Amino acid sequence: MSWYRASRPVTKHLCPGSMLTLVLMVLASSAVDAGQQKNQAKKYKGPGTTLNLRNIIVGRCYHYMSLYPGNGDKNCSGIWQELIDAVQRKDPCKITQEDYKNLALVAAQTIPCDKTLLWSRTNDLVHRYTKATADFITLEDTFLGFLFNGLMWCGNTLRPGMNYKSCPAWNECEHNSISSFWKMASAAFARGSCGVVNVMLNGSADGDIARIESILRTVEIPNMDPIKISEVKVWVIDDIQGEDRNSCNSKSLLDLKYYIEGHKLKYSCVDNYRPVQALQCADHPDHAACNRCSYQ
Ligand code: APR
Repeated sequence: MSWYRASRPVTKHLCPGSMLTLVLMVLASSAVDAGQQKNQAKKYKGPGTTLNLRNIIVGRCYHYMSLYPGNGDKNCSGIWQELIDAVQRKDPCKITQEDYKNLALVAAQTIPCDKTLLWSRTNDLVHRYTKATADFITLEDTFLGFLFNGLMWCGNTLRPGMNYKSCPAWNECEHNSISSFWKMASAAFARGSCGVVNVMLNGSADGDIARIESILRTVEIPNMDPIKISEVKVWVIDDIQGEDRNSCNSKSLLDLKYYIEGHKLKYSCVDNYRPVQALQCADHPDHAACNRCSYQ
């Protein structure tokens, strides 16, 4: 009541024309505020959504079907729609693995037993290797990994569609659109694996052979089913011209062995797995390790 009394005297001396001007001024200033808020969308540390993302994903989807017709028909525009639904109008730092649940369902695939090849710190070599042989499949060779490998995306809270200006970097916030996606995809890949699961590690890398916070340790190993997986076989591969910092009997590998066995999985290890070393030798045929009588 007292508010009504206090406000009345201010307005009772205003003519209708002044009232209208006042209302218009208030409306105009709130429109300017909203516009400024839109223009001030948060700036993240990572690059923005990859340009032409929709065309790239739909194109890769059709490309994958042409490469592997045995995997059945995929709904390529449906996959794009599931990606949009997972991230748009959401804070890119609050995207969970659960947000990608429907995307995972439409892209689901059966992983043949004994074909899974996981990796840590061997991104280039492992993919050169799976290109050279049909014997193994990395996550990036599966349908989901093939579609999204190397791409960036995030939505933004204020508008529909993607944010092409900036997206959170991998470690910028815990539940960001990119790391949550790869954790979801890695977990699904590990859960779907069976038989012998192979893991390519870098014996020449500095420090831990597989980082404590790596996807291999934090997502893939915990998601493997010991009933379906007969063995986890680690390959420790040195750079052909690099140092031999780690091998199967190094402390770092023993730590990993206990970690794997702690998840009730059988562990084995091989140094410089010969078929991978043969691939390295294609680039360095004269290296001593490539002498047919000397390589292990
Ligand atoms: N910062 C930036 N990128 C990261 C980070 C991080 N902290 N962690 C992971 N990534 C992303 C990057 O894209 C990087 O190239 O994961 C990639 C591999 O990181 P590694 O330490 O080499 O390995 P790991 O974390 O174990 O991930 C590889 O996960 O992708 C799956 O199946 C795949 O087994 C493989 C494993």
